[in-house]
Amino acid sequence: MIDRRAFLEKSALLSALGFLPRALSAEEYERDVMGSPVGTMPNFRGRPCVVSSANGINGVKVAYDRIRGGIDPLDAIIAGVNLVELDPDDQSVGLGGLPNEEGVVQLDASCMHGPSRRAGAVGCLEDIATPSLVAKAVMDYTTHVLLVGPGARKFAVALGFRTQNLLTEKSRQDWLRWKSRLSKNDNWLDHDDDVKINWTHGTINMNAVNAAGDVSSVTTTSGLAWKLDGRLGDSPIHGAGQYTDNDVGAAGSTGLGEINIKACGGFLTVEFMRNGATPEQAALKTLERMVHVTEPRLLDQRGRPRYDIQVYAVAKDGRYGAATMYEGASFAVCDERGPRLEPCAYLFKTADRPR
Ligand code: GLY
Repeated sequence: MIDRRAFLEKSALLSALGFLPRALSAEEYERDVMGSPVGTMPNFRGRPCVVSSANGINGVKVAYDRIRGGIDPLDAIIAGVNLVELDPDDQSVGLGGLPNEEGVVQLDASCMHGPSRRAGAVGCLEDIATPSLVAKAVMDYTTHVLLVGPGARKFAVALGFRTQNLLTEKSRQDWLRWKSRLSKNDNWLDHDDDVKINWTHGTINMNAVNAAGDVSSVTTTSGLAWKLDGRLGDSPIHGAGQYTDNDVGAAGSTGLGEINIKACGGFLTVEFMRNGATPEQAALKTLERMVHVTEPRLLDQRGRPRYDIQVYAVAKDGRYGAATMYEGASFAVCDERGPRLEPCAYLFKTADRPR
């Protein structure tokens, strides 16, 4: 460890010798060396910003407008992801989400509220379309952080959440066609039409910061399509599917959750930002770590992953970024320039994707 005085003396010396381009400003020093972000500096003024997976393009505008209207960032982004949870046509989240192997829709969600340092989550929740709100209720009304399965459902019903059948006819038909193709030797007749499904491990992650530099994050999903009954992905896991540290920023992920759980992707991205990386650099470094923790069966002969995953991040000062394993994905952002899709940075070119 190097104390502040020694650091300043050393950096001044190195700077004088030409090894450093210039001495760090006090702000850079606090952020890069002491690990304290710019937001803890006196006179800090943030820049509101909302960032999410591409399927949140409408939600980021809803969230941003609410933040500008003075609504708490977590409430604002939950309103943003509710749009997607309640959209029966998005088969990766909430109502209409693709079911598990038994044809049952099981939802996962988690959230973190930076200013109060609180967190909530639910996993394998059935019959309730807005798990993000149930996750927040766990945070608001209990001493717990994560409720799963029938207990999570019971808790939500006790609070007045409406139950409904989440399996839309479209998702039921997709599930039936998937099931009928499991084996050539089973008793299901094969059909000529192929199963065309856009999302098999889609999700929505949304992160936001307001003008005061207060940060929050939320992730919600129906998880991996056709998963085993009881499978939890990364979305309900704090530090994986999303993570917030109000001193630094927030980050979250979409894509193959099993990899993200092992890499602690949300937490890692925030820690990279704490150590000075920009949101985009932090997201790319987290993807590199994900490749590093991937088991051989999910890598090709050149060590390239056979899966895709995206990381989204926002810093306390309003900078943002996102990265994806393979070129081509975009992400949604809304700030003073309005809602838009931007291309994710990437680790590998599309041409290098394993066939
Ligand atoms: N990232 C969503 C999941 O794997 O469940």
